[in-house]
Amino acid sequence: MAQNVILIGAQWGDEGKGKIVDLLTEHIDAVARFQGGHNAGHTLTINGNKTVLHLIPSGAMRAHAECLIGNGVVVSPEALLKEIRELEGAGVRIRNRLMVSEACAVVLPVHSALDIAREKKRGKNAIGTTGRGIGPAYEDKAARRGIRFAELFKDNFAERLEALLEYHNFALTKYYGADAVDFKKTLDEYAAVSQELASLSGDVANRLHELRAAGKSIVFEGAQGLLLDIDHGTYPFVTSSNTSAGAAATGTGIGPLDIDAVLGVTKAYTTRVGAGPFPTELKDETGALLAERGHEFGATTNRPRRCGWLDIAALKRAIQVGGINTLCITKLDVLDTLENVKLCTSYKLDGKDQALLPYGADELEKCEPVYETLPGWQSNTRGVTNWDKLPAAAKALVVRIEELVGLPAAIISTGPGREETIVRKHLFATYLFDT
Ligand code: GDP
Ligand code: IMO
Ligand code: MG
Repeated sequence: MAQNVILIGAQWGDEGKGKIVDLLTEHIDAVARFQGGHNAGHTLTINGNKTVLHLIPSGAMRAHAECLIGNGVVVSPEALLKEIRELEGAGVRIRNRLMVSEACAVVLPVHSALDIAREKKRGKNAIGTTGRGIGPAYEDKAARRGIRFAELFKDNFAERLEALLEYHNFALTKYYGADAVDFKKTLDEYAAVSQELASLSGDVANRLHELRAAGKSIVFEGAQGLLLDIDHGTYPFVTSSNTSAGAAATGTGIGPLDIDAVLGVTKAYTTRVGAGPFPTELKDETGALLAERGHEFGATTNRPRRCGWLDIAALKRAIQVGGINTLCITKLDVLDTLENVKLCTSYKLDGKDQALLPYGADELEKCEPVYETLPGWQSNTRGVTNWDKLPAAAKALVVRIEELVGLPAAIISTGPGREETIVRKHLFATYLFDT
C-alpha cells in the first residue's frame, strides 16, 4: 500500500532527520525536500561511512529512490553542483534520479554576502545564521525580484542578474560598508555551473502527482525544525521558511489530503545552534557531556551545538502546530551514562504556569523550566534494535515522553548507523515497514 509521509524536525534542527529519512527510504520510492536550502546538514551513516547532505534529499544513498527538490526550497546552484560531484566521487549516481523544481528560488553569492553583512551589523544581536544566504534569498522571492531555477538557463539571465546586483550592491556598499559582488565574475561562474544543471530542472509538482497516480510512496523531508519556523518558532531567532507539515504542501505542490502520516523527530534531549532563547540549556558538565557523547557540532558550519534537557513544553507546541501524529526519538544512547534524566514539563512565566512554548523570543527568554526527574539506566543502549532489550529505565523515559505529549514513539534511534534503530512496527498507522 502506498504511503506518503512527512518527516519534520520537532526542535531547533539536527534531530537526526537525515538518518530516519534514509531508513524509511528502504520501502519508499521518492524523497522530496520542500523548504530550506543548504543551511541544512543531514547526516547519513551507512556501514560506518558518513555522508552529509545539504540540498539533495536523504534518499540519495538508495539507488532506487527518486530525489526531488520542491519549489519551496531555495537552491544555490554551486552548492548543488558541489554536492552532486561529491556523491558521484563516492560512486553514487544521482543525476539520473534528481529533479529540481523550475520554480525554486535561487540563492546567489550576493545573498550570502548580504547574510554575512547583516549579521555583522547586528553585532551582539546577531541571529547566528549559517551565512548561506537563505534569508536574503527568501526575501527576494517574497519581493518578487528573485531569480527562479529555470530562469538560470534563459537568455535574459544576465540582464536579470545585473539588475539584482545593482539593487543589492547599493545596500552592501552604502549601508553595510561591505564589498560589492562583481556582476561579471558571478555571470562567468554561473555560465559553467548552469550548463551542468539545466537538465535537472523540471515540473516537480507534476512528477509527484504522477508518482501518486502510479501508487508510489513518497517521503517529504523537512529541514531545520519547528522551533525555527518563521511564524511559530522563537522569532526573530528562526530561519526564513515555514518548517511545519503544511510547508510540504506549499513547498512541493501536493495537497494536505495526500498525506498519511506526519513523523516528528526529536532528540531525547535538546540542542540548538546559533543565538536565541533555550530554557533547558545546560551550561554545566552535564551539557558538556551531552555535547561530547552526542558529537554535537553543526553538520553545515561545524559550530558547537548548545545542549540541554528535553523540553516537553516546546515539543508540545511543535506537535500542535507542526501537525505531527507520530514521534521518532533519536540519540537515546547519548543519555546512557547519566544517573538521572530530566524532562522540562512546563515553564514558570511571570510566576504563572505556562504549559506550552510561548510565541516569540522575548516571552521565552523569561520562562523558567519546571523539571521532572527520572532515573537514568547507566548501561549501554547503543545499537539496540529491539524494544525488549532496552533497560527498564530507558523504556520508562520513552513511555513518560509518550504520556506527556500524547503520541506514540514509533521509531527510537540508538546510534547514528542506519540499522541502529528500534522500529516499533505496531505503532505505525501505516504499513511502511511491512514489505
Ligand atoms: P538532521 O539535520 O536532523 O539530519 O541531523 P544532523 O545530521 O545535523 O545531526 C544529527 C547527528 O546525530 C548526526 O551526526 C547523526 O549521525 C547523529 N545521530 C543520529 N541519530 C543518532 C542516534 O540515535 N545516536 C547517536 N549517538 N547519534 C545519532
Ligand atoms: P537541519 O536541517 C540547526 C539555524 C541557524 C540559525 C537560524 C537561522 O540540519 O536541521 P539561517 O541560515 O537558516 O538563516 O539561520 O537557524 N539553522 C539550523 N540549525 N539545523 C539546521 O538545519 C539549521 N538551519 C538553520 O543556526 O540559528
Ligand atoms: Mg543538521
